[in-house]
Amino acid sequence: MRVHVADHPLITHKLTVLRDVDTPSPVFRALVEELMTLLAYEGTRGVRVEPVDIVTPVSPARGVRIADPKPLIVPILRAGLGMLDGMVKLLPTAEVGFLGMARDEETLQPTTYAERLPEDLSDRQCFVLDPMLATGGSLTAAIEFLFARGAVDVTAICILAAPEGLRAVEQALHGREVTVVLGALDERLNEHGYIVPGLGDAGDRLYGTV
Ligand code: PRP
Ligand code: URA
Repeated sequence: MRVHVADHPLITHKLTVLRDVDTPSPVFRALVEELMTLLAYEGTRGVRVEPVDIVTPVSPARGVRIADPKPLIVPILRAGLGMLDGMVKLLPTAEVGFLGMARDEETLQPTTYAERLPEDLSDRQCFVLDPMLATGGSLTAAIEFLFARGAVDVTAICILAAPEGLRAVEQALHGREVTVVLGALDERLNEHGYIVPGLGDAGDRLYGTV
């Protein structure tokens, strides 16, 4: 598993405001989207491109465009939905699949309540979006969904992670390759499975308690 922690003062600045308990929901939403755009820059370094010939006002030139088949973005509902617009801004031709997962707050095990993914992912670059990688259960389940459809090229983009969760995902992968891009690697999980210092419940801060 390749782990890349994006190290940039703009990311750290926006993360600081995001973590603040006094940051209201509209600001929180805007920051998640902005952070996603910054993390997308790191997360898409390996996006497949193909050569293309164009003509500038001055001369013919060679460039690149995003290759077919288009990348697939998979936000994990609910909180991952807050990252989708930020990602689509940088990859407007990508397609979007959905996974709905909820973590049982007692057992910390995820259950999947929605799935809308292409049947065959064998030639697709997949980008999984979830702001929080805590125990790693949700991300592991999401990656297993993608592998079960034949995916071999998976990048997960998370705003925060706990070391325990990263280790759990790596163990569950059994050597299969996945890239994880993070805004920050936090200290630890607390006894309730929350990331410390973290930012609290990302889904609730984005969309309210339901
Ligand atoms: C949160 C978060 C992740 C998951 C992380 O979602 O968005 O999906 O918890 O925890 P884990 O690494 O221990 O699995 P939650 O289940 O609270 O659902 P929500 O996005 O609908 O709020
Ligand atoms: N899910 C969250 O939203 N926050 C955490 O700290 C852990 C799981």
